[in-house]
Amino acid sequence: MSALSGLLHPKMTGKGFVIDFSNKCIVVTGGNRGIGLAMSKAVAKAGAHVAIIYRSSADAPKVAHDIEKEFKVKAKAYQCDVSDADTVNKTFDTIDKELGPITGLIANAGVSVVKPALDLTTDDFNKVFTTNVLGVFNSARAAAKLWNERQHGGSIVIVSSMSSQIYNQVALSEPLTQVFYNSSKGAVSNLTKGLASEWAKHSIRVNALSPGYVNTDQTSGMDKKVRDFQANTVLLGRFAEPEEMTGQAILLLSDHASYMTGGEYFVDGGKLAT
Ligand SMILES: NC(=O)c1ccc[n+]([C@@H]2O[C@H](COP(=O)([O-])OP(=O)(O)OC[C@H]3O[C@@H](n4cnc5c(N)ncnc54)[C@H](OP(=O)(O)O)[C@@H]3O)[C@@H](O)[C@H]2O)c1
Repeated sequence: MSALSGLLHPKMTGKGFVIDFSNKCIVVTGGNRGIGLAMSKAVAKAGAHVAIIYRSSADAPKVAHDIEKEFKVKAKAYQCDVSDADTVNKTFDTIDKELGPITGLIANAGVSVVKPALDLTTDDFNKVFTTNVLGVFNSARAAAKLWNERQHGGSIVIVSSMSSQIYNQVALSEPLTQVFYNSSKGAVSNLTKGLASEWAKHSIRVNALSPGYVNTDQTSGMDKKVRDFQANTVLLGRFAEPEEMTGQAILLLSDHASYMTGGEYFVDGGKLAT
């Protein structure tokens, strides 16, 4: 039975809107903390085995172990710098053998450098773009290669940002100085459209999920005054919790999103409406 016929003739087994990822395997880059950790837990709660890719956090294996225990799925942490294509390809092959077959990817790992533009260096550029753009590309292509080999489709969710569209502020008419971050998110939102266009014929859907302000390590270091200012510019008047990003991602990974590709979905509490 195709995914589409499953959708048009759902099993009438219960009430509510059910997404069941039993026997699926989802890779979450940066899945050990912040938004990525919320994603790892959400896909595990839906029944999927989870492969967490992380860069250097020593507690990532324990995070995976805790998910395994809590949700009764297989979960494992894989240390891998997403900016290194060879390592990414090898890591996806290993994951595919150990937890797979891989059925979905959340390309979430991202970094920022906050500095005035006049002080930015080539190293700063490389740090941001090799993770936020090249790292997303490497991860997406590694998944697509595996799916192509077995002539099977899949779903990729790229975590971009509402910063793909705007230049954030720390106070009225005062910018948050991170041009490389914002331009990397603009790039990766466009990359989403390109990959979706090239891979639609391979039944691979690619979408971007673009969060607004979220309470994570990336934002916790900011001055309270800045955080309050930013929260007040959002229709809902607050930062999001990481868990509030997961519903859109789960939907996009599932067959309920069978007609969604090349899109950018903003989960921003209404920020872009202001
Ligand atoms: N927080 C927000 O308000 C917000 C808003 C919009 C968009 N976003 C986007 O959402 C995503 C997650 O953000 P977050 O706030 O949850 O980030 P975070 O708490 O700072 O966590 C970043 C994660 O990415 C991993 N990572 C970074 N560079 C990597 C690399 N080269 N290779 C592999 N893993 C790498 C880190 O691994 P280690 O733990 O090993 O370092 C960590 O798991 C990012 O793409 C970010 O730009 C965040």
